[in-house]
Amino acid sequence: MIISLIFIGGCMKSKKIKSENEFENISYYRKQLNDRYLNYQEKNPSLSIEDIVTHVNIGLDQPYYTNTKETPFLNTNYILSNKYLYMSESYIPNNLEQIDSSYTSGKRLLVRDARLAFEQMAQDAKTQGYTIRAMSAYRSYQYQKDLYQRYVDQDGVETADTYSARPGFSEHQTGLVVDVDNKETIYTKFETTKEFLWMRENAHHYGFILRYPKGKEQITGYTYESWHYRYVGVEIAKKMKELDITFDEYYTRYIETKKENSQE
Ligand code: DAL
Ligand code: ZN
Repeated sequence: MIISLIFIGGCMKSKKIKSENEFENISYYRKQLNDRYLNYQEKNPSLSIEDIVTHVNIGLDQPYYTNTKETPFLNTNYILSNKYLYMSESYIPNNLEQIDSSYTSGKRLLVRDARLAFEQMAQDAKTQGYTIRAMSAYRSYQYQKDLYQRYVDQDGVETADTYSARPGFSEHQTGLVVDVDNKETIYTKFETTKEFLWMRENAHHYGFILRYPKGKEQITGYTYESWHYRYVGVEIAKKMKELDITFDEYYTRYIETKKENSQE
């Protein structure tokens, strides 16, 4: 009798611990964020456990531009920049190369692998009757600083922050990003073009993803941009397309934790 009571007590105890720590079952769970998961869950009861852990890991339980950190994985396709992760003023990616003039006007730069993939994509599109042109690519810290300031002067900080990154926080500084148009339609209306549909079907085969999708504004921190494509490499781009998640989510689920664990 005594033995069986102890046994039942033991079971109850272990069950209780498991239900209190349901986040622990998620592979990208971080013990030090446990209280934040619980608070965020209280405010967002309809979210799945996976989404709670993902959002808090990104930093979304706190206002944009709080607890900012310098982004790791510099000079790799894994680099993430968003409203919590920035690049230093002095960061200039290695291997910046000029995009072939057939696919852009003026001097525009991308990191070598992204340049090669972009040129191949634009060339294949051209062969099929579509025009994909780079109208913005690598932007230095200083360039972004001036650009952001112009938008702030024009629209005020609050509005500018919805569509323009603060200096150091722009993904354009990674050298892995290209804004495109089709030469005829203004880039802000790229969504209305046949080239946009082509990109939706094909960009991932070349390693590019739509970085600020419609409906994911809360996660990315930016309004929808049909023209802004990020090079992540073919493997990640295909997986992201399949999972239909943003790079912020992909990063916290598959890159950040994996890297942390591999360093242990
Ligand atoms: N428009 C994007 C968010 C940037 O400023 O980098
Ligand atoms: Zn852009």
